[in-house]
Amino acid sequence: MSILKITGGRRLDGSLRVQGAKNSTLPLLAASVLTEGLSVFRNCPRLTDVAATVRILRHVGCRVYEEGDALYVDASGPISPEVPDALMRQMRSSVIFLGALLSRCGEASLCLPGGCELGPRPVDLHLLALRTLGAEVTEAGGRLCCRAARLKGGRIDLPSPSVGATENAMLAAVLAEGSTVITGAAREPELLDLQDYLRSCGALVTGAGSGVIRICGAEKLRGGEKRILPDRIAAATWLAACAAAGGRVRLYDACPQHMAPVLHALRRMGCAVSTGENLIVLERRGDLLSPGPIVTRPHPGFPTDAQPPLMAASLKAAGTTVMIETVFESRYRHVPALRSMGADISAAGKTAVIRGVKTLHGGDVTASDLRGGAALAIAALSAEGETVLRGMEHVDRGYEDMAEALTALGGEVSLRKE
Ligand code: EPZ
Repeated sequence: MSILKITGGRRLDGSLRVQGAKNSTLPLLAASVLTEGLSVFRNCPRLTDVAATVRILRHVGCRVYEEGDALYVDASGPISPEVPDALMRQMRSSVIFLGALLSRCGEASLCLPGGCELGPRPVDLHLLALRTLGAEVTEAGGRLCCRAARLKGGRIDLPSPSVGATENAMLAAVLAEGSTVITGAAREPELLDLQDYLRSCGALVTGAGSGVIRICGAEKLRGGEKRILPDRIAAATWLAACAAAGGRVRLYDACPQHMAPVLHALRRMGCAVSTGENLIVLERRGDLLSPGPIVTRPHPGFPTDAQPPLMAASLKAAGTTVMIETVFESRYRHVPALRSMGADISAAGKTAVIRGVKTLHGGDVTASDLRGGAALAIAALSAEGETVLRGMEHVDRGYEDMAEALTALGGEVSLRKE
């Protein structure tokens, strides 16, 4: 197991290339099994979740290889409709294979997915979408079995804009007979990546990002290609780190156009934020102010994945910050560890109240999930003394080498094997 050692109290000063987006890469890789050819994904991040998805691809029969920052997936051979439980339980996004395998093989059999514990994470909307397109779905003993000789296009009205259910609906509809319209669809930027890729494979898909997606089913799809968009949550994490510790950071290969609510909050905290094409520069010299109330919402609202990093940046901000988490039921599991470092936070249900403190102190803390781990690293950068951060297996799921990234931004950070 590795641990991260962080010595706080130093202003940041540096620049960093933003990695490819985890939450775009995972559904793209699942989508590649729809095609009867070779797909290439450029700017592919090196993450343990990506490695876990590659294991699923290889298990179902794909040939997968890397060249530089590109990942090649050859799905031209026979594809198996079954994914073993051990592979499914590694992460939540494995559930996207349900729509992809059902579309490609006419059946799919897998268990309920694993992933970050953020409260209940049902799949009822995923199953609603597949059943609407004519799939026969049975759930027994935590296992999902879906069958349909060929799915039939239809109208899928999602009662809430689930990202995963929207992705599963898209993957099920692209090879269905006839047309499909998905209303109430998620509008996250990662869905634009999925639409672009599916189009490069010959699919007829429009409307991603608008809330209403239209798909005309194809007989079959060829291999395609996509350059993966920058990770807006990784970028938000690095900016929050600089807001917390002070200093100046420059992020390139970034996507400011996808980050408006986060940049707005950071400006309210007294940070000077300037943006250019694929570039974000943040400088914090003066006092840190509370960002005011933060309410997480589906895109284009404030992203729930940026809530823990922004909370960590608000710990020493003058004033009181109220956060309301509306997307997940329990996404404050990082609060007790932050309190152990001297933070003044009360959290109950969806609401957390952060009263700014003058100082934080280092400690020995453990990440409980991916973004919670990022919050602890950010708090450590603005704390006095040294912090030992454990549970890096959570952090590695979504950040390419956090030690290297924080060092490039001027942090005093080292990774140790335990
Ligand atoms: C995606 O998860 C992201 N993961 C999450 O990022 C992100 O937090 C989330 O979208 C919201 O933006 C990936 O893209 C791999 P949802 P997903 O379905 O698809 C409820 C990170 O840190 N719901 O939009 O699982 C659900 O319980 C991760 O990178 C149902 O009720 O999210 C939740 O409360 C964490 N029934 C809400 O909707 C369903 O069938 C949003 O979930 C599906 C979801």
